[in-house]
Amino acid sequence: MRMTGPPDDEHADPLSGIDLGDPDRYASGAQHGAWHRLRRDAPLWRQETGDGFPFWSVTRYRDVAAVLMDDKSFSSAHGTILAVAGGDSAGGRTINLMDQPRHADVRLPTMRLMSTHASRQRTGQVRANVRRLVAATFDAGGVVDIARLMLNLPMTAVGETIGLPVEVWDEVPRWAMAGVAPDDPHYADGPAAETLKKAHHRLIAIFSDLIRQKQATPGDDVVSVLLKLDFGGRPMDHREVLLNCYSFAMGAVTTTAHVASHLVLALAERPDVWRDLRENPDLVAGLVEEGLRWASPTNHLLRRVVKPVDVAGTRLEPGELVAAWVASANRDDAVFARPYEFDPRRSPNPHLAFGVGAHRCIGGPPAQVVLGVLIEEMIARLESFEVAGPVTHLRSNFINGITSLPMELRPVPARRPAAIA
Ligand code: HEM
Repeated sequence: MRMTGPPDDEHADPLSGIDLGDPDRYASGAQHGAWHRLRRDAPLWRQETGDGFPFWSVTRYRDVAAVLMDDKSFSSAHGTILAVAGGDSAGGRTINLMDQPRHADVRLPTMRLMSTHASRQRTGQVRANVRRLVAATFDAGGVVDIARLMLNLPMTAVGETIGLPVEVWDEVPRWAMAGVAPDDPHYADGPAAETLKKAHHRLIAIFSDLIRQKQATPGDDVVSVLLKLDFGGRPMDHREVLLNCYSFAMGAVTTTAHVASHLVLALAERPDVWRDLRENPDLVAGLVEEGLRWASPTNHLLRRVVKPVDVAGTRLEPGELVAAWVASANRDDAVFARPYEFDPRRSPNPHLAFGVGAHRCIGGPPAQVVLGVLIEEMIARLESFEVAGPVTHLRSNFINGITSLPMELRPVPARRPAAIA
């Protein structure tokens, strides 16, 4: 989705024209005008999905946070994205689609592998992985599709932590994206249903191999932990482990890669911020947080009401669906001054890009580490960069992704190939 400000004309984006479900609007335009209007005029908004499921939307920061924090009134087990508003077939079986107490059975043992402390300890390994991915490309300069390159960034952060062998680091991201946006032209491999089938088939084959291997030789990784955890008094069965591997890989790939691309694009469009950053590398941590707020790669998170609850002043009943628009909350001027400005010095920056509450992203710390390392490598290797062709966006109301980002890279003189030679 393009990053825009509020509508110039206050009469633009009338409520009657708003459709938050339509994936085409995310591929070719932006929903920032619509979210701005909804925050102002209709904080609880009702519409239907393309396949006819009615849902409510909350767009203000405080309502989004209230829905996500209240996991007693709102369940994740029905499904958490609009694409499966009718019910997710993995509901109740994967970490992101479970309610308490089963959710804690999976979350507590796995989160230790990705804590802030564990992730910072791994920075050296992550830096070596990131260098393998970007160093030669950055140092050579020229036109590069950054979106394509960044697709492989998430594995440099959590490939080893999940337990995935390096041989599949190239393949998993492509199929993970096809699984989440099967009708986007960049990932489609035939019709959407066919693409989804291929993606599931291939990922299931990869994870089945991995499970067999970890059963034989356990390590200190997510798959090995899933295999031995206590899931309500019994071990997980093969299918449950497999579905959870899938969730961890999807969670990593479909988000981290796109924050990286949005960050590079935001910097290319703001040479003054890039210069400031090169002169003040201590801005990197703030830049990463602003990149997360700016990109907000998961546009919405869906919940199902399980007991009567007030949402933005209206009583909702069990069975109703509520989409909490995280991307809108992150532009709410009740919380963020100048929300449409990209400002690495923003402080505090209480963005909701990782969600909040019981399901808050478990992979946040490794994502923060890898994004920081990427920016440090850019500072060390690149003098400047600019957009060199059409930028295309993902056709998805769920993930705010960039599918193609041609960028002309100019390496710092000391690293240009002639100078290296
Ligand atoms: C910039 C990067 C990332 C962003 C913005 C992000 C965003 C999110 C969000 C918004 C949630 C909450 C979902 C909900 O409430 O329903 C979430 C959960 C999750 N994320 Fe991330 N994520 C990122 C990176 C990662 C990485 C690197 C992993 C790798 C392991 C990961 C794995 C997960 C998992 C397993 C969950 C489910 C946690 C739970 O339900 O307890 N994410 N993520």
